[in-house]
Amino acid sequence: MTSSRGTIVITGASSGLGAEMARQFADLGYDLGLAARRTERLEQLRAEILAAHPDRTVVLEPMDVTDADQVFAATRRFAEQLGRIDRYVVNAGLGKGAPMGTGRFDANRQTVMTNVVGALAQTEAAMEVFREQQRGHLVMVSSISALRGMRKTMTAYAASKAFVANLAEGVRSEMLGAPELDIDVSVVFPGYIRSEMNEKVAQKTRFMVDTTTGVAAMVAAIEGRRPKAYVPAWPWVPIGAAMRVLPLQQVRRLM
Ligand SMILES: NC(=O)c1ccc[n+]([C@@H]2O[C@H](COP(=O)([O-])OP(=O)(O)OC[C@H]3O[C@@H](n4cnc5c(N)ncnc54)[C@H](OP(=O)(O)O)[C@@H]3O)[C@@H](O)[C@H]2O)c1
Repeated sequence: MTSSRGTIVITGASSGLGAEMARQFADLGYDLGLAARRTERLEQLRAEILAAHPDRTVVLEPMDVTDADQVFAATRRFAEQLGRIDRYVVNAGLGKGAPMGTGRFDANRQTVMTNVVGALAQTEAAMEVFREQQRGHLVMVSSISALRGMRKTMTAYAASKAFVANLAEGVRSEMLGAPELDIDVSVVFPGYIRSEMNEKVAQKTRFMVDTTTGVAAMVAAIEGRRPKAYVPAWPWVPIGAAMRVLPLQQVRRLM
């Protein structure tokens, strides 16, 4: 019997970065709570993880993050089944979108409901558990695109990810004033990492890395409990620094 290194809840674990984070955190010895709408994908992932690590515990919950009641109930069940939640990764996200005023309010709205209201519900639910436990690590997955306004299909998405980053910083600020609570907050800003979200994007997109490499950078930043991390560091740390100061005309050529 291998002792657990701790417990991690990951939302959006049915594909892409969430599924790979589950694999890599299981490799590190964590027990897992995995959530998404496509539960058959979660079942497959659990079978794969348990085949590699029979001593690990992996519990699953169906969760549509746009249904706040489901988010709160599933988070509670994770805490009960796992005994406690040491880390909660707000990862579920949607990258649908279209330029403003082109008749695709439905797509932009769905992205905002998932990435903004969904992230808010997950953060509230996770923080309730952390406050009760008086400890925990809240991890929020933003995006490099959050650093500036973006054009084309990215406008609503980038704005939604700016919300995620600012929400994380706000909670971190709150926790800086609560030394009696051992609660850390990290926000991760991925660059381009191959996943279902961008599988239709050209294979040769500049700076795109494969899922395993990109997620390894995320996992290292999360394990280091970094308050903010642009991942992978190369090239996204210098690009991120440039993006924050460049005139918009140049930003639009970068991303
Ligand atoms: N890949 C990148 O280059 C990149 C860059 C920056 C940021 N990100 C962020 O990384 C996170 C993961 O994205 P990904 O690249 O791994 O994309 P992905 O492969 O499309 O995965 C998205 C995940 O979110 C879940 N999800 C979507 N809508 C949901 C909803 N309403 N309720 C519950 N779960 C929902 C999906 O599960 P179900 O459909 O099964 O529910 C899926 O597991 C997202 O927040 C994304 O914005 C990705």
